[in-house]
Amino acid sequence: MASNTPIARALALHKAGRLAEAEAAYRELLAVDGRDARALHLLGLVLLSKKDIAAGIRCIRDSIEYGGPVPQRLYDLGSACRAAGDLDAAETAYRGALDRAPTFAPAWSGLGGLLRQRGRLAAAIAALEQSLQHAPDDPRTCLQLASLRAESGDFEGAESGYREVLARAPRASAASIGLGDLLARTGRAADAEAAYRKALSADPENPDLLAALGECLSAAGRLAEAETALRRTLAIQPGHVRGWFNLGKTLIESDRLDEEFLDAWLSFPGPTPPLVRAAAINHVKQTPGYRSLVQDRDAAGRPGHMDLESAPAREFLAHRILHRLLRRGIVDDLDLERLLTDVRRSILLGVDDPSSMLDFLCGLAEQCFHNEYVFAESAQESGAIDRLAARVDEYLSGSGAATATEVALLAAYRPLHRLVNRRALLEQRAVDEAYARILRQQIAEPDEERALVEAIPRIGTIDDPVSREVRAQYEENPYPRWRYPPRVENRSVEVALTGLFPYLRQADVDWPEAPRVLVAGCGTGHQSVMSALRFRDSSIMAVDLSLASLAYASRKTREAGIGRIEYAQADILRLGEIDERFDLIESTGVLHHMADPLAGWRVLRRLLKPGAFMKIGLYSEHGRRSIVAAREFVAAEGFESTPDGIREARQALGRLPSDHPARQVAERPDFYAMSTCRDMIFHVQEHRLTIGQINEWLHELSLEFVGFELTSSRIARAYLERFPDDPELRNLDYWSEFEKDNPGTFAGMYLFWVRDCAQRS
Ligand SMILES: C[S@@+](CC[C@H](N)C(=O)[O-])C[C@H]1O[C@@H](n2cnc3c(N)ncnc32)[C@H](O)[C@@H]1O
Repeated sequence: MASNTPIARALALHKAGRLAEAEAAYRELLAVDGRDARALHLLGLVLLSKKDIAAGIRCIRDSIEYGGPVPQRLYDLGSACRAAGDLDAAETAYRGALDRAPTFAPAWSGLGGLLRQRGRLAAAIAALEQSLQHAPDDPRTCLQLASLRAESGDFEGAESGYREVLARAPRASAASIGLGDLLARTGRAADAEAAYRKALSADPENPDLLAALGECLSAAGRLAEAETALRRTLAIQPGHVRGWFNLGKTLIESDRLDEEFLDAWLSFPGPTPPLVRAAAINHVKQTPGYRSLVQDRDAAGRPGHMDLESAPAREFLAHRILHRLLRRGIVDDLDLERLLTDVRRSILLGVDDPSSMLDFLCGLAEQCFHNEYVFAESAQESGAIDRLAARVDEYLSGSGAATATEVALLAAYRPLHRLVNRRALLEQRAVDEAYARILRQQIAEPDEERALVEAIPRIGTIDDPVSREVRAQYEENPYPRWRYPPRVENRSVEVALTGLFPYLRQADVDWPEAPRVLVAGCGTGHQSVMSALRFRDSSIMAVDLSLASLAYASRKTREAGIGRIEYAQADILRLGEIDERFDLIESTGVLHHMADPLAGWRVLRRLLKPGAFMKIGLYSEHGRRSIVAAREFVAAEGFESTPDGIREARQALGRLPSDHPARQVAERPDFYAMSTCRDMIFHVQEHRLTIGQINEWLHELSLEFVGFELTSSRIARAYLERFPDDPELRNLDYWSEFEKDNPGTFAGMYLFWVRDCAQRS
């Protein structure tokens, strides 16, 4: 092409990065001939660089229409459609390019990346291998292939792939990190460290390398060196997630966690990891304010009358970590709960004007609303708070004005949505952000849920007597009252399940790409939201008995911006009435609350597509010994399953000597909120099972055991040490033996995956 033709001049501008001028030049050409395929294609690329993806796609499509399906154009169209999230169109375009030019390596690479995105690991690896056959030296494809091999469990192939990339491009930090992470994961920590250090010698300020090195050093217990590397990471890139997480862990282990760090960590959006919450609680309990209040209270012996005006008390009430803890999640520590209970009582009964404590009271109100007012309450407090509630309601009817402090104090004892005139509070202009938040949580959101109940569709009727009783429990106490959507990786079912159970990579499975999921007994939607986030391109049907739970679920799902979950009220026993079949069914913490768990499981099993998977959670007889002891204690003492009864039972359990079998329930997070505590020790219906029993049921249901979702990799290691001849961790007789010797293994519940095997047997 002559260098002075208009298209050549436009292309030269384009190559020089002068995009605006190139765009103008292409548009000039198109003004002369609107069907100039070359100009259209190149203009499309300029628009894509400008992130105007839709216009870019239109231009490239036009170029194909007028100039024919040239492989490069199809490839560019594929990449553009991928960027736009239209994976079907992208795949068609890449495959179109390859039909015309089977040796066109970029299209193989593009297709490989796309298939990986779709979670089709084996197909993605095959496409990348094709790409490398035609362009053997492409470092990006080599790197992608190595990391894909690591992801699919082919560690040897991955290692040699990373090493090849590094042989050609020694400064490829992503390859060094991939190699180092792989070495660390396969137990070669020293080699991993060497790999990171070698890369760092060429690129000493690379935050990803520093974070990887820090993690590796931390895991090896070299905490001081780890801290240096991780602090350096965050100095270079303050929001580096791997750096943050590992620095936090390292500081906790070396007992060097400072308040600044904790404060920043607790301000991260999303759920607070238990490790961080425990560290924060510990930190608060070390403060002079906390210690002095505990001492004063114990010395005075009159917990209702603490001196909250003293300097240490003021310091405690204003402590920023305490405030964050109160707002972010449930405080699951008995000592801190007791002190907060005493402080609350002292404010209500002993402080004339608590307006200087408004911020603390708002935090306490958030905490108490979220734990559903589980703290102990004396008769004197109940009387005082009933009078305060009546006064506030009267003010709100127009005869005066309630102060924010009065409302916040009330909200720390009773949910504001119970006030008859609550809407008047929303009409006030709340200037204080913390105060506005309690109004939203305690009035606007519950009102929204009440309205949502009407829109929830119902499937069948609820006639079974146990289902009716169970429903009543969860209408009163929807479980669990969660706040933040879980942090999970969004993956295809194939990647998620082969990640959990690597042996499935060799199994004959027809992996669903856009799975249809049933969550049976979804409660308040934490589980359905988790599934929607976890399984790529999934659409979910989630059912439960309790309308209050479903309304909470709908509101939180909307809040999380997830649109692929339909909620419906249904008894599992009546789900046979729907004609749909599912790629995945999850039912955890549900079947053991039915009169006949196997009958419920049978109904669900019939809704499974051939070869499809099911995730089940069932209580373990061995794992729940302390809970059984607590249930027996509660029954023997005659505590009632009412809010007052549950509050009293908690206090009594908390007072038991530490070696009492029932006392251990206070170590469980579920002890610290009304709905979870009720669920744990006051449930109207509970079955507990053994592995042997589950195994029998699996045979009866023609379901094959896939594996347990374990709470810690330590369990898997201990099991493998004991039973090395079961590398797939699937032998239920072995697991039964293992559990007998390690009764805490399934303390939460048995959480496991099974699969339809009727077709294959
Ligand atoms: C402990 S909660 C678990 C909620 C949820 N699966 C989770 O893990 O967060 C048990 C839930 O199962 C529901 N449930 C119990 N029996 C049921 C039945 N027969 N049909 C539908 N849902 C049921 C209850 O209403 C309750 O919301």
